[in-house]
Amino acid sequence: MTIIGKAMQDAMNEQINKEFFSSYLYLSMAAYFEDKNLTGFAHWMRLQADEEREHAMKFYEFILDRGGRVQLKAIDAPATEWKSNLEVAEQVAEHEAMVTESINALYELALREKDYPAQTMLQWFISEQVEEEKNAADLVAKLRLIEERGTAVLMLDHRLSKRGGEEAESEEE
Ligand code: FEO
Repeated sequence: MTIIGKAMQDAMNEQINKEFFSSYLYLSMAAYFEDKNLTGFAHWMRLQADEEREHAMKFYEFILDRGGRVQLKAIDAPATEWKSNLEVAEQVAEHEAMVTESINALYELALREKDYPAQTMLQWFISEQVEEEKNAADLVAKLRLIEERGTAVLMLDHRLSKRGGEEAESEEE
């Protein structure tokens, strides 16, 4: 067995921390939605949090399988409040883009180190990030649509408030 290199081990230990932070962040978002009685949103976020823990554990197992040492670090506190549902979704999208960069940097390291097992393992994450970013972008797009519709309803409401009597209406026509 080729033992994992120090640089790769350290970088993967950092990634474990990032994945646990992602899990913590999404669980915090679930709690935010739970507080607003948006149980569907909360359910989605809880599953997302579970997936992030699984991602962390994939790195954990990989380091062990390669004879390395797992070293857990402190997890930062996530935000607990957001201005709107859309802001939550936008933060998920931003966060996933950052995770993608981090996975890509790990892959570059695996190429430099000629660490073939790491390259194969990281290819799964590269595909997973495409999915993760797509899901986040879909959520942002849907929430933007709802917001636009909300604005359209307000505009219609404003127009309706301008209604005059029957005469005024026929004059308009
Ligand atoms: Fe582990 Fe959402 O990336």
